[in-house]
Amino acid sequence: MVDVEVYGKMLSTLPEDDDHPYRSGAWRPQSVEYDADDLAVQGELPDDLYGVYLRNTENPLHPAIARYHPFDGDGMIHKVSFRDGHVSYRNRFVRTDGLLAEQEAGRSLWAGLAEHPASAIRKDGWGARGRMKDAASTDVVVHAGVAVASFYQCGDLYRLDPLTLNDLGKATWGGAFPRKAGVSAHTKVDDHTGELLFFNYGTERPYLHYGVVDASDRLVHYVPIDLPGPRLPHDMAYTEHHAILNDMPLFWEPELIERGLYAARFHPELPSRLGVIPRRGEGGDIRWFEFEPTYVLHWTNAYESGDEIIVEGFFQGCPEPPSAGPSGPKDRMFRFLAQDTMQTRLHRWRMNLVTGATSEEDLSDLYTEFGTIHNGFGGRPYRYNYAATNEPGWFVFNGLVKHDTLTGRAERYQFEPGVFCSEVGVAPRVGGTEEDDAYLVTLTVDMNRDLSECVVFRANDVGRGPIVRAQLPERIASGTHSCWAPGESIAGW
Ligand SMILES: [Fe+2]
Repeated sequence: MVDVEVYGKMLSTLPEDDDHPYRSGAWRPQSVEYDADDLAVQGELPDDLYGVYLRNTENPLHPAIARYHPFDGDGMIHKVSFRDGHVSYRNRFVRTDGLLAEQEAGRSLWAGLAEHPASAIRKDGWGARGRMKDAASTDVVVHAGVAVASFYQCGDLYRLDPLTLNDLGKATWGGAFPRKAGVSAHTKVDDHTGELLFFNYGTERPYLHYGVVDASDRLVHYVPIDLPGPRLPHDMAYTEHHAILNDMPLFWEPELIERGLYAARFHPELPSRLGVIPRRGEGGDIRWFEFEPTYVLHWTNAYESGDEIIVEGFFQGCPEPPSAGPSGPKDRMFRFLAQDTMQTRLHRWRMNLVTGATSEEDLSDLYTEFGTIHNGFGGRPYRYNYAATNEPGWFVFNGLVKHDTLTGRAERYQFEPGVFCSEVGVAPRVGGTEEDDAYLVTLTVDMNRDLSECVVFRANDVGRGPIVRAQLPERIASGTHSCWAPGESIAGW
């Protein structure tokens, strides 16, 4: 018996016949919030799948002031929980200050990524460049038992109950939250220590900060990191004893910033730099290592091996593509969205802390991105990550790849044409000991049947395809990041 209730509906002023490539089709936004306490399940639901999958998506409610970019949409968290043979679903908009203000105004008030900041109606705002809406739409993690949604341009951290998705307000860290600079998406939760590692960035000195919040949600470390100028870091990595920050040669043109224009340009004459800092180190303790120029959107993991720090992520062969490819949307502002045109390959960077020697190599020929891991192996030696392949030219995922970083083997699953998935959550099997003794959880956008499902794979048999399917109340919009939180990590579970 499926018991679906409508919790609420946000005011949307978008036209019914919207044909924007990232506000229609697989990106058609939702405005309704549902409670579905017991989804009908097809397949054998494992009783050792126990916890919560959370996924963040962009769901714009109002037409942009001038030009909509999919990273501008309002954050909506989807929750699917698995417990005692029951699968429950909810979705909620993140009640950001920006969303509430625009609900009251009935229109967009801040300038999006592809708009000039001066076009914003409001003079205030968030983001590394300013006058944006903090949509809390990029990432979601669970830290100290609470879901935390974040924004890639830096902003507040919005806290939600991971089971009910009730609004728990913004992170304050006892008054120590860096309100002016905010915090970037891709905070990292170390399951071994309960710490949350984070960074922020901006156009004013210091251009970068790194910090640590402890398992009790107290800010215990916050230091400035010196950079040559404003940069656009999107993600960070960590090992057992170090944090890894980055200075990549794709950044806003400094002379354009002075004119209020924010255009990201690749500088192939500059190296990529990875900065290694002890987890509680001062800014001056950071050591920089130089590598081939590229841009990295996402790191998969990092770990220590003897004197070496090893970092893995997705090297872009073409960080500034001329277009989104022949089959993608024609507007140039979408060219940074398709991983096949950016040629994103799984890559390994090595740094020797004693000799200073570096080396790097591709780990796969496949264009994949959005790789997730068994978080218990976060910052420690690991073997597997689970990444997505994209529909050529588009920011939608048409398949999964399990990368074996030890052997280089790639195991693939391709969804049928017109079916797209989300970044997967890796759910360790309760009682399992092997790294891939786990389930992969994702949400689909099925354009053929006009619906979405939560589907579950076995991580040690990805090629077999989903073993469980549960239909959601409405087709969701495609989006960005997700996470898995084991039941015991959730407050009130
Ligand atoms: Fe990201």
